[in-house]
Amino acid sequence: DKALSAFDVASPPHPMILTQDELKRIAAYKAVEFVESGMVLGLGTGSTAKHAVDRIGELLRQGKLENIVGIPTSKKTQEQALSLGIPLSDLDAHPVIDLSIDGADEVDPYLNLVKGRGGSLLREKMIEGASKKFVVIVDESKMVKHIGGSKLALPVEIVPFCWKFTAEKLRSLLEGYGCEANLRMGEKGKPFVTDNGNYIVDMHLEEDMGDLGAVSDAILRLPGVVEHGMFLDMASTVIIAGELGVKIKNK
Ligand code: 5RP
Repeated sequence: DKALSAFDVASPPHPMILTQDELKRIAAYKAVEFVESGMVLGLGTGSTAKHAVDRIGELLRQGKLENIVGIPTSKKTQEQALSLGIPLSDLDAHPVIDLSIDGADEVDPYLNLVKGRGGSLLREKMIEGASKKFVVIVDESKMVKHIGGSKLALPVEIVPFCWKFTAEKLRSLLEGYGCEANLRMGEKGKPFVTDNGNYIVDMHLEEDMGDLGAVSDAILRLPGVVEHGMFLDMASTVIIAGELGVKIKNK
């Protein structure tokens, strides 16, 4: 396996050129090393988390893990886990989760995250917030100085009812950061709909938000807002795969 064996070599003579997907898989496999038999696991969503779920399925099949219960963060992950034979449950039955593994869109030096560009931020925040340990898996392109700033978008899940009203409230709340609020579109020119039947507004900001906690509270106070994609002070560990190897940052 090209991607994994690259990291079995202590000092490769030349760094290997790995694709972004290979780096994602390396981070995911490393995270699965934290999984022990008998654990209740939060199963993340996205192209990085998919590798972790595949690996957990593989280890179960090989009998190297036993008695795992998975709590999926999206319908898509639920389907994947079911197809791999991973036993599933939910937060009602398991309000405390041993370990969650998930990707992220951005990670800052304090391990604050932006998540939700895949659209699953609400379930992810509920499940990962209920986890004793939350391991984030990324390739190095996800590391930023400030989350939600100049790079991509900060997703906010809102109710469909009068969504323009809520999107405008969000835009004007974040106006000081040079903000544009765009309704996320799905297929056939229709709005993207989350697993919870809601819409997503992607907030494109030109400036860093400064006090993230204050911005988070202000967004959550707006009627019509369900949740946002800033995951502040939630990650316990971030595993970062890059061309030169894997770095593990603990809180
Ligand atoms: C989904 C998420 C994903 O974890 C995030 O978008 C990263 O995705 P990927 O691993 O595909 O880069 O938050 O809501």
